Amino acid sequence: MDAFIPPTVEAPTEPLGVLASLRAVRRNALTVLPSISFTQPIVSGTTGLGRWHMVQGPEGLRHIFLDNVDNYPKSEVMIRMLRSAVGESLFTSEGARWRWQRRAIAPVFASRNVHALAPMMTQTAERATARLAAADGPVEIVREMLSATFDVICEVALSGREHFDAEEYGAAIIKYFVTVGRASLMDFLDLPHWIPRPGEIRGRSAVRTMHRMVAQAIEARRQSNPGQLDDLLDHMLKAEDPETGRKMSPTDLLHNMQFFIVAGHETTALALAWSLFLLSHDQEAQAHAHEEARTVLGERAASADDLPRAPYIEQTLQEAMRLYPPVGLLARNVLAPNELYGREIRTRDTVFLNIFALHRHEMYWNAPNAFDPENFAPDRVAERDRFQYLPFGAGPRICVGANFAMMQAQIILMTLLARFRFTPAGPLPKPVMHMTIRPDPGVTLDLVAA
Ligand code: HEM
Repeated sequence: MDAFIPPTVEAPTEPLGVLASLRAVRRNALTVLPSISFTQPIVSGTTGLGRWHMVQGPEGLRHIFLDNVDNYPKSEVMIRMLRSAVGESLFTSEGARWRWQRRAIAPVFASRNVHALAPMMTQTAERATARLAAADGPVEIVREMLSATFDVICEVALSGREHFDAEEYGAAIIKYFVTVGRASLMDFLDLPHWIPRPGEIRGRSAVRTMHRMVAQAIEARRQSNPGQLDDLLDHMLKAEDPETGRKMSPTDLLHNMQFFIVAGHETTALALAWSLFLLSHDQEAQAHAHEEARTVLGERAASADDLPRAPYIEQTLQEAMRLYPPVGLLARNVLAPNELYGREIRTRDTVFLNIFALHRHEMYWNAPNAFDPENFAPDRVAERDRFQYLPFGAGPRICVGANFAMMQAQIILMTLLARFRFTPAGPLPKPVMHMTIRPDPGVTLDLVAA
């Protein structure tokens, strides 16, 4: 059978002007990635206000993420979109403020701790299976996966849903994404970051709601049984910098938990939804994955110990994040002049780390746009540059929650594939990028007991 070529966006052959770029970014940021970014390791241009470079070659990305990381701090525009909700937490801070938080938080996500959370992930997978089994007709999978991963994060970070109105919080997240989370004309015009953007003002009530709810959940835990539950919130309450003994202030804790909840559940849900979408269009691959899951699980839900026996399901997830990386583009500032691929990079230029194009690049992948989980067979991974596949970033700022995300995604995907067969039932979705890459208008599938 021919490989399935899933939908992508038409890349512009000519660079867009400032206003056209802004319009495109607000609608779908993938539509500003020029076609030559899929054939060249670096593309540069100017908006008239400043110079920019898009880097999508493994050598250049290694230089920025690792070898010369201090020269490329996170871009102020990206930070601005997040700061009102997550303050100067791990994701949004730099320098000494970042370093001590990373030292304190990395052990919270050590594999032993993440392993201890797996039983809650298994229960969530069971609940998701029950919800899908009760569905009457086609199901919109993005919504279902968001609900499943939100369920996990509520359990492990907020002592379950009983202290927490998940509907109210979910509505606040959506409002936040469409207000604060959209690039503004004021960013393109390079206006100072202390001037509030209109979206930021419109999103303030959503941020207040989210903060109030997370603060209440933290307080409920402080009052009840801290140190007893061995979950993410417990570990964060105890977290300290091993070098200095410094602990999180209530504000640090609030902002970091807030980031884990919003970023952690949306990205993982998208990886799952895209995986099921791709498998629904490749029944051969789905039969392989189903067989693998069924042999190990029979009728039960997956646990952490089952995952090593489901390598093809892990490969499918990795392939889905190659074609549709939940985080498709990152931006960095430049502190001191530098050179990349012989090109001059100046102080104050903006550098985009173009993960989406890296993952579909003609120089590095055979059939870059085709769905093929064999891309992640161990021999193929071994012969590839590690910087050719970067869904979680790399270097010192690599995603601290990657273990956690992979574990919950594999547990949920394996459980669902053992129980159901999925077929397409709605329009082919297009990838649309704002902060993350989402399928638009969603992924609608029919499912039957397998
Ligand atoms: C499939 C799911 C996920 C994807 C694709 C993803 C992707 C990423 C990427 C690309 C970065 C690097 C950003 C940069 O260099 O500018 C990052 C950082 C980060 N991620 Fe994730 N992430 C996922 C899940 C999670 C989860 C579940 C959590 C926590 C519960 C989390 C917490 C973080 C944090 C705190 C950082 C900042 C680390 C630092 O700067 O030291 N992520 N993530």
